[in-house]
Amino acid sequence: MKEAIFPAQWNQALASLPPSGIRNMLKLASTMDNAIHLSIGQPDFPTPHFIIEASIRALNDGKTRYTVDSGLPELLEVLAKFYGDWYGRNLGPENLLVTCGASEALFLAITAVAVPGSEVVVLEPSFINYQPLVEFAGARAVPIVTTASGGYQPDVEEVIAAFGSATSAIILNSPGNPTGVVIEPERMKAIVSEAVNRGITVISDEVYDRITLDGQDRPGVMIWTDDLDHIISISSVSKTYSMPGYRVGWLISSRENVEKLRRYHIYSSTVNNTSAQWAALAAFQGDQNCVAEMVGQYTRRRNRVVELLKHIPDFQSYRPDGAFYVMPSLPAGSNASAIAEQLLHDTGVCVVPGATFGQSCANAVRISFANSMENIETAFERMTDWFAQR
Ligand SMILES: Cc1ncc(COP(=O)(O)O)c(C=O)c1O
Repeated sequence: MKEAIFPAQWNQALASLPPSGIRNMLKLASTMDNAIHLSIGQPDFPTPHFIIEASIRALNDGKTRYTVDSGLPELLEVLAKFYGDWYGRNLGPENLLVTCGASEALFLAITAVAVPGSEVVVLEPSFINYQPLVEFAGARAVPIVTTASGGYQPDVEEVIAAFGSATSAIILNSPGNPTGVVIEPERMKAIVSEAVNRGITVISDEVYDRITLDGQDRPGVMIWTDDLDHIISISSVSKTYSMPGYRVGWLISSRENVEKLRRYHIYSSTVNNTSAQWAALAAFQGDQNCVAEMVGQYTRRRNRVVELLKHIPDFQSYRPDGAFYVMPSLPAGSNASAIAEQLLHDTGVCVVPGATFGQSCANAVRISFANSMENIETAFERMTDWFAQR
């Protein structure tokens, strides 16, 4: 049941956008002295200094006016070359639109493609924006459930069986938030090929494309099809370079699609922040060791977290291959929201209840390892004791 919290004169589609699932948790945690957050959805590393310097330099050089609405031309060139080289395809600046983070790109793509009355296939657990935005646009989200016991890999047959004449799009997210899943190449290939063959748009959220923990290369969808008319690939600098506050993202698609979404973008944010775009350009042009170092640390933390989870038998877990999350589940029927609240209250360890990411995962919790190894160790000591005493 949707809450009637908006005045009757307002667009009632706003009711599709739910309040944040972790607000209660963060409110409770903010009153505690000893809270440790394993709830964080952003990198814990400082933004590399050369990136910060580039934005300061841009401001001091007077780069404070609008750029071209599709993005700073130098940045579009660099992104087209980077993704063109990475995915072995011919991309030009006209295939790209720079947006206000991946979030704006997701908003534009989903609300443009999720035709009212159509269906959009979403893998669950899913990042919090997808299903609400699909419903906001007037379409219906069709969740395909994946599980911790299956490492959150999607069942290809089940996904394809969900495609029907009403399907307008499928939203993919690999590496994924909240599960850290990297969808196996063969599964990805089968899903993308089938969707594209049927004229279903693949909206692929690839914000963690550079954070793969076992050396997987090219986790995105552009490798599996030549047809960019049915692909909207989305990413950003937020996670890769630990600069989420800069709000620079982009989408990649066919020139025709980009032209249309560019017009839509003019009516939303119009153009991205200029100095932030210079910072993003510096990020791509600078020494990429900063990315390798952060990924190295996430990998060490992932390895440790996977080990530590084995000491809490209540959890069914797996080894996430990307991003900085793991989402172990508790026995079927467990109310993970109540458990997470009690855990926070008793131990100060804050994790995110699974219900935030879909009804099917209400018995799971998302654990983020965007925190220091020391904090992770302390948090797990407290959690292990707490679960042992339950
Ligand atoms: C899967 C996913 N998509 C998109 C975003 C938003 O990214 P941005 O900061 O680029 O808007 C996030 C941020 O947490 C995310 O986890």
